[in-house]
Amino acid sequence: MKILILGAKGNLGQQLIKVFEGSYEVISWDREEVDVTDRLLINKKVKDVRPEVIINAAAYNAVDKCEESEEEFALAKRLNGEAPRNLAEAALEIGAILVHYSSDYVFGGQAHHHQKTLKEIKEQGGFREDDETRPVNRYGQSKLMGEGEVVALSGKGLKWYLIRTSKLFGPRGASELAKPSFFDIMLRLGQEKPELDVVDEEMSCFTYTPDLAKATKDLLEGGKGYGVYHLVNGGPCTWYEAAKELFKLTGADIRINAVRSDKFPRPAKRPIYSVLKNTKLESLRDFKEALREYLNNKK
Ligand SMILES: NC(=O)c1ccc[n+]([C@@H]2O[C@H](COP(=O)([O-])OP(=O)(O)OC[C@H]3O[C@@H](n4cnc5c(N)ncnc54)[C@H](OP(=O)(O)O)[C@@H]3O)[C@@H](O)[C@H]2O)c1
Repeated sequence: MKILILGAKGNLGQQLIKVFEGSYEVISWDREEVDVTDRLLINKKVKDVRPEVIINAAAYNAVDKCEESEEEFALAKRLNGEAPRNLAEAALEIGAILVHYSSDYVFGGQAHHHQKTLKEIKEQGGFREDDETRPVNRYGQSKLMGEGEVVALSGKGLKWYLIRTSKLFGPRGASELAKPSFFDIMLRLGQEKPELDVVDEEMSCFTYTPDLAKATKDLLEGGKGYGVYHLVNGGPCTWYEAAKELFKLTGADIRINAVRSDKFPRPAKRPIYSVLKNTKLESLRDFKEALREYLNNKK
C-alpha cells in the first residue's frame, strides 16, 4: 500500500515516516517537493503518485505570530484552512483516504446558551469528539476552517480521519524550523537558571509524537468508521505540573514556581481548559510514561 506523508520534515511527520516505512511504500514530501497551499500543483502531483492514503502533517503552528499580524493570519488560513481542502479534493478524485490533524485549540471559548458549560465539559472528562467547537484565538480559527473543509467533502464520498491532538512533544523534526517542544525548552532553561516560573493554568493533554504516529497507523489499520477522533496521552495537566514531572524525572535541582498566565503576557489568548476526551479509541498511555521514555532515548 502506498502512503503519502505531507509535512514530512516536521515533528510529527518524521515519526509518521518511522512508523509506516517498513510495512508500507512511503512517499514523503515537505515544502521542497510541493507547497500544500498550491491547489493545482497538489492536485497534479497527488494524481501522478496515486497513493491509497494521504496523511497531512503540514501545518502553521505560530499561535502568537498570527494573532499579531494580518499577513501571518492570512498564511495560517491558507495553510491550516485551505490546504486541507486541496488535499481533500485530490483524495476524493483518486479515492484515497485522507488523514488530517487538528488541535484542542478549536475548543475553549465561551459557551453559548445552548452549549455545554465548562463545568459540564470538565465533569464529562474533557471535550468529546462531537462537542461544539469555539476557538479563542486565530490559530484555533484557522484549524477549525481546515476541519470544516474536510468534513464538507465527507458528504461527497471523501474517506477521512480527522485527528485532534494537543501539546506535542518528542524527537525534534528534521526541518530547521521545527519548533522545540515545551519539555525541550524547559530542559534548556533548566540548564541556564536555578529557578523557573511556570504557568499553572491551561489544563490539557501532552502527546508524544511516536505514540500519536503509532495510534494513527492503528486507526488506519483498524478499519474504524470515518470521522473525528481524539488522540492524546493520558494525565491532563497544567504547564507547571508538567515541568514538575520533568525535573522529577531528570533529578535536576531546580525550583519551579507556579505562576498565573498573566505573568507572561502573550498576543494570543489560550483556552483555560482544553482537555480532549477520547471516547472512540483505546486510550494512549499516561504522558509521564511517554516522557520517561523520551528522556531515556535522549541520553
Ligand atoms: N505542535 C503542537 O503542539 C500541536 C498541537 C495540536 C495540534 N497540532 C497539529 O499536529 C500536526 C503536526 O504538527 P507538528 O508540530 O508536527 O508541525 P511542524 O513540526 O511545524 O511541522 C509542519 C511541517 O509542515 C511543513 N510545511 C509548512 N508549510 C508548508 C507548505 N506550505 N507546504 C508544505 N509543507 C509545509 C513544515 O516545513 P517548514 O519547517 O519548512 O516550515 C514542517 O515540516 C499539525 O496539524 C498541527 O496543527 C500540533
